[in-house]
Amino acid sequence: MTDETGQDKLWGGRFSEPTDAFVEAFTASVGFDQRLARHDIRGSMAHARMLAHVGVLTEDERDAILDGLDAILVDIERDDFAWLTELEDVHMNVEARLIDKIGDTGKKLHTGRSRNDQVATDIRLFLREEIDIINAEIRRLQHGLLDLAEREADAIMPGFTHLQVAQPVTFGHHLLAWFEMLQRDWERLADCRKRVNVMPLGAAALAGTSYPIDRDYTAELLGFERPSRNSLDSVSDRDFAIEFNAAASLIMMHLSRFSEELVLWTSAQFDFIDLPDRFCTGSSIMPQKKNPDVPELVRGKTGRVFGGLISMLTLMKSQPLAYNKDNQEDKEPVFDTVDTLRGSLRAFADMVPHIEAKRDNMFAAARQGFSTATDLADYLVRQGVAFRDAHEIVGKAVALGVETDRDLSEMELAELQQFSDAIGDDVFEVLTLEGSVAARDHLGGTAPDQVRARVKEGRELIAKD
Ligand code: ARG
Repeated sequence: MTDETGQDKLWGGRFSEPTDAFVEAFTASVGFDQRLARHDIRGSMAHARMLAHVGVLTEDERDAILDGLDAILVDIERDDFAWLTELEDVHMNVEARLIDKIGDTGKKLHTGRSRNDQVATDIRLFLREEIDIINAEIRRLQHGLLDLAEREADAIMPGFTHLQVAQPVTFGHHLLAWFEMLQRDWERLADCRKRVNVMPLGAAALAGTSYPIDRDYTAELLGFERPSRNSLDSVSDRDFAIEFNAAASLIMMHLSRFSEELVLWTSAQFDFIDLPDRFCTGSSIMPQKKNPDVPELVRGKTGRVFGGLISMLTLMKSQPLAYNKDNQEDKEPVFDTVDTLRGSLRAFADMVPHIEAKRDNMFAAARQGFSTATDLADYLVRQGVAFRDAHEIVGKAVALGVETDRDLSEMELAELQQFSDAIGDDVFEVLTLEGSVAARDHLGGTAPDQVRARVKEGRELIAKD
């Protein structure tokens, strides 16, 4: 059947009237799935090679198809390819062009396959490539964090709980917390990649095909770990994409928390760090402003990635087996997630190595909130006082500090001794911020030596891949 624009539909045989023009535009995906063209062509080439390998195509037919597809790829990359809505999607645009270019042999490419296994293959090839790029970007950010953590291994800042000053920590230690989160993110994507890297081709529309196909052969050509095991599942499964969106959501959640801290720390109230001007912008009305736009925007972009995950889950939740047109809606949330994630990671990987710590301000802030109060309690415990009693004693000392506007380390020994005679003049060693962080010298603790050891370990870990 020829449509209103005179274009022959590749599936038009059984139809007696042209597709409604609005329906044609409404159901088309070529506007966005043309992004899969390179992968689609790669999949088609492997399919054609396999068909020749098993004798379904002659070598001449195979070569004509491969040459035609090569030429189409060149046209697409040169932006010299007219994408037609009437041809619905990337698959039929490429196939129709192949038939235009090489004639009837082009009509043989679709033997033993369907757009259903074809599109599932394309998304998997696309995601596999993107996961590799994203994981390399995570590594770049981790490198930046390790370098910065090493530089700031001794810098002391307040550690917070409830955003109230809690105990002193080293800035290096704080940075390494983000390294850990990103390490889990990297591992999650690497794990997701295993399930992405399975080949659906051969499932055809849903039931497989009656041609003597060799799926292992195609899988090997495309670098897939193995062919999938059930044709119905192969064309309907989008778990791998949902998993990707879930892993991406966790990464964005981490980057958003990271962003929030950077925004707080660049504020005049904290004034812990400086971000390079090139990662900030000014205000059109307030000349003094330097706004942390990059972290703010990354924090904001987290929403669309979470949204993509919910879209994908909802898209799949009620679909009966096997393929349904609903699945066409899988592409935009995945594409948008890939773009948002890549952009956000790139911005952070570029910016983090240039974070400048304002060490004096961090140090001064750590002195303000009685952050060594726990150290005093631990000191008393070492002198034989029970922890609960020690807690009470230190609470009283803190109350005096609040009243007289002084830190514990600024009090006279005699003042401290009125609360407990277990206090000796060696107490001041633990009341200093340096003494407090150095004392937490165990695996996972905040001591500068621990930070340096973790940086070394982190470098070895990420050098492995
Ligand atoms: N454009 C479709 C998609 O994105 C390709 C598969 C169409 N298959 C079908 N039987 N209509 O899912």
